[in-house]
Amino acid sequence: MAMLSNEEINNIQRTANIVDIISSYIPLEKKGSNYFGICPFHDDHNPSMSVNEKKGIFTCFVCHKTGNVFSFVQDYENISFIDAVRSVAEKVGIELDVNFKTTSKYDRHYEAVDLANKFYQNNLKSASGKKAREYLIKRGINEEVIEEFGIGYAPSNYDTITKLLLNKNFDENILLETGIANRGNNLYDLFRNRITFPIHNANGKPIGFSARIYEDVDEAKYINTKETVIFKKGEILFNYHRAVNEARRLKYLVVVEGQMDAIRIYSVGIKNVVATMGTALTPDHVHLLKKLNVKIVLCMDNDSAGEKATLANGEALSKAGVDLSILRLSGAKDPDEYILRNSVEAYQDAINNAITFFDFKMNYLKKDKNLDKVDDVSTYINQVVAMLNKTNDEVLIDLTVNQLSEEYGIDKNILLNKIIKVEPVNIVKVEPQKKVRLQKRQKLCELLLYYMMNDIKYIKLYEQELSYVPDDTYIEIANDILAFYLKYNYISIADFITYEIDSNNYELVLSIIDNNAKVELSDNDYVGIIDKIKVIIDEVKINELKEKLKTISDINEKLKITDEIAKLKKRMCN
Ligand code: UTP
Ligand code: MN
Repeated sequence: MAMLSNEEINNIQRTANIVDIISSYIPLEKKGSNYFGICPFHDDHNPSMSVNEKKGIFTCFVCHKTGNVFSFVQDYENISFIDAVRSVAEKVGIELDVNFKTTSKYDRHYEAVDLANKFYQNNLKSASGKKAREYLIKRGINEEVIEEFGIGYAPSNYDTITKLLLNKNFDENILLETGIANRGNNLYDLFRNRITFPIHNANGKPIGFSARIYEDVDEAKYINTKETVIFKKGEILFNYHRAVNEARRLKYLVVVEGQMDAIRIYSVGIKNVVATMGTALTPDHVHLLKKLNVKIVLCMDNDSAGEKATLANGEALSKAGVDLSILRLSGAKDPDEYILRNSVEAYQDAINNAITFFDFKMNYLKKDKNLDKVDDVSTYINQVVAMLNKTNDEVLIDLTVNQLSEEYGIDKNILLNKIIKVEPVNIVKVEPQKKVRLQKRQKLCELLLYYMMNDIKYIKLYEQELSYVPDDTYIEIANDILAFYLKYNYISIADFITYEIDSNNYELVLSIIDNNAKVELSDNDYVGIIDKIKVIIDEVKINELKEKLKTISDINEKLKITDEIAKLKKRMCN
């Protein structure tokens, strides 16, 4: 299997313009020689991310995220480094060897799920899949949708897919670890006599299934792949890979509970939709949605479980500072039914009229109350005030107070007196990373290394004048820069980042770049840095010699060392 060399990766990096690539994700604006944008990696409100076109790097001066074009795409899209390389190559029109494949220790797992998926899909077309097909058609899931979503049918036999994969030389462990098979006396298929819906990761690779009964049988309606090495439940949203571009284009994403809902909504043309698959949003889900940087329209089912899910998921999303709207449907139990009963247009209207999370909570508090009764009004108002006390959105407070005062004839001042100005407790910001205070010596070394990453003339001067820095970790990085230069005969920060990706010093390299990103390179300054480091090296030597002096008794030896110290001291003064 062909692998991609660093030369090829560097070539893609150099062909890609980092400003073009990053602006395909977030808007960038030119200020001075750099470009700036809202950093997608923390809760940013002012443009804190700067992109340096010439150097091919980005840095955020708040969360200190730093990297090259591949690191950006990798983190933004939530994909592997090599998939990020592939994605950038595609964007700039560089064709990669079709055989080029990254090897991961889970390749066989992915292959197994992919094969099972293909088998189920074909099997739906077979005679045994007839009833499943009829069920789907009856629900208004046509051929085209079946194809698009890769819907399949798992046969009713005990171990069809297990045998098939074992015959293809898949290890038993792979079958168990992907959740395709379970162990009884022998291995047996987990999904039997069910309609299968493949679930994909952000790269569009199938990693698991949700499987539905289609007849009236006394079994769980759906069974899903359990957590596996490739199926991280807490990070996966059904349909994410198909929805993500449309969500960015339209600047909002609809989040529903059931995959059938997502399939319906998508197939009638609203493609920016994902499903939680019935589980509560995890912190990883929230992070993923936050990173998308678009409005989330939360549309849970129209029952009390859906209402509770709206409260819990809404709370998690709003705490993370996600721009959030709530859609509560009426007259249908879920979006699938709503669209079939009404129309796409009606659903799109409902999306456009989604309400704020605050309004949803107000409605929720009103629900079981009789607001003609004084007691209930009093409870209601106190609950709303409690909510207002968690925000410091003054406009929201003002509007709500006015509204309550009008609706229930209460003096505004009484309400306002109940409102305590507090720091918002419900906004959890991504903590900007604290910078570690560097000692003078470390600062100098980092500056030196930063210069070296920028231009081979600085590498050459380092070799002539120092070829050494007084710190083991920094020596390693300096040696890596030298090794890069010797191997490729040039230097570039962006490519050096790629070069260091598997090194223990990777984070440190990024932090050196981040710490020094604003430095204007000057040859004179560089000479000054080298001189200062020389002094430090001499100081270190002097201290070592002084220590040695204490342990020596031979007078001649002592004289020799004092002489050496004197020489070093003299050199330092020059
Ligand atoms: P729902 O019961 O709302 O399913 O569960 P649905 O989307 O309306 O499905 P249809 O229309 O009856 O086919 C929502 C989600 O909860 C998970 C599934 O992922 C489902 O899509 N679920 C539901 C299970 O995992 N197991 C179950 O037994 C039921
Ligand atoms: Mn449904």
